[in-house]
Amino acid sequence: MNAKTLELETEISGAIAEAQSLEALDGVRVKALGKKGTISELMKGLGKMEPDERKSFGQAVNGVKQRVADAIEARKDALAGEVLERRLATERSDVSLPVRPGPMSEGRIHPISQVWDEICEIFGDLGFAVAEGPDIETEEYNFDKLNMPDWHPARQEMDTFYFHPREDGTRKLLRTHTSPVQIRTMQAQEPPIRIIAPGRVYRCDSDQTHTPMFHQIEGLVIDEGTHMGHLKWCLEEFCKAFFEVDNVKMRFRASHFPFTEPSMEVDIRHKRVGNEIRIGEGDDWLEILGCGMVHPNVLRAVGYDPDKVQGFAFGIGIDRITMLKYGMPDLRALFSADLRWLQHYGFMPFDVPTIAGGLSR
Ligand code: PHE
Repeated sequence: MNAKTLELETEISGAIAEAQSLEALDGVRVKALGKKGTISELMKGLGKMEPDERKSFGQAVNGVKQRVADAIEARKDALAGEVLERRLATERSDVSLPVRPGPMSEGRIHPISQVWDEICEIFGDLGFAVAEGPDIETEEYNFDKLNMPDWHPARQEMDTFYFHPREDGTRKLLRTHTSPVQIRTMQAQEPPIRIIAPGRVYRCDSDQTHTPMFHQIEGLVIDEGTHMGHLKWCLEEFCKAFFEVDNVKMRFRASHFPFTEPSMEVDIRHKRVGNEIRIGEGDDWLEILGCGMVHPNVLRAVGYDPDKVQGFAFGIGIDRITMLKYGMPDLRALFSADLRWLQHYGFMPFDVPTIAGGLSR
């Protein structure tokens, strides 16, 4: 090997070692091994040499070429490794750190909203559609068409919030139950009808077990040949799905509502064990809903023929079954807007209740 090739190799090796980036290294490669690179230039002298000299010089230059190419590859690997190391160091995250507080981790769905969604999910699975009506109703929808004419005693028992009478003598009111949605739905569609109507209702009543505003979910089924067996099956299926137990003990008690005949109230058997409530066991009963076969007068009021179509209706107290399912001792806490209470009893925003994924987690 002659001095010239040795000097060149030393120079190139130095440049390779000094290259601090893949781009710089590629520059060194082009300068040495490219078509007009320093090593290629050396090769051009070969033609004028004697055969012996040409052989040894050629071998020497090829050796340099090979070693330079190897050194570049090695440096390339090292640089790529450094780039990765740097990325790993800057993008490192400590998975054991607590989640930064934000709306998704702090916010909670109110248990009433959760149960509202759970109920809609269960009845949706049974083929019910969701209907709605206004909170501010007329006497006609809240009472008259539900077989409660103005002389009817039930009208006084409802503890109604009335608005000031208008010039024509009519008064609007805050609906005392979700049953007016039955009338609105029957006026708007033809049988067969299968709806539920969740909503807020209002009564002038306030103590440990009553708040002036509370929630109900109305159910209405109208079809040919609908009977009490359908009603009972439907409510039993609902209770099993809602309380997430196979063994729900229900008690159907004869009762009275002007808009159903016969009428019943349904109680659920349960037992308190400390803070927990066990459904289907024990000796305590809690009334959770009113129901019955739709009264023929109600069907006539919307222009249906009671000899052709029949149906059943029910009204479930959402607040009551929320307390029962999630073991809440005090009704008023539901509406006290206490953040600590909501943190404890609330639900995570993305845990949407579904039949397939589970209602409550
Ligand atoms: N509307 C009744 C109430 O508020 C409940 C009910 C609805 C009863 C439908 C029978 C049928 O108490």
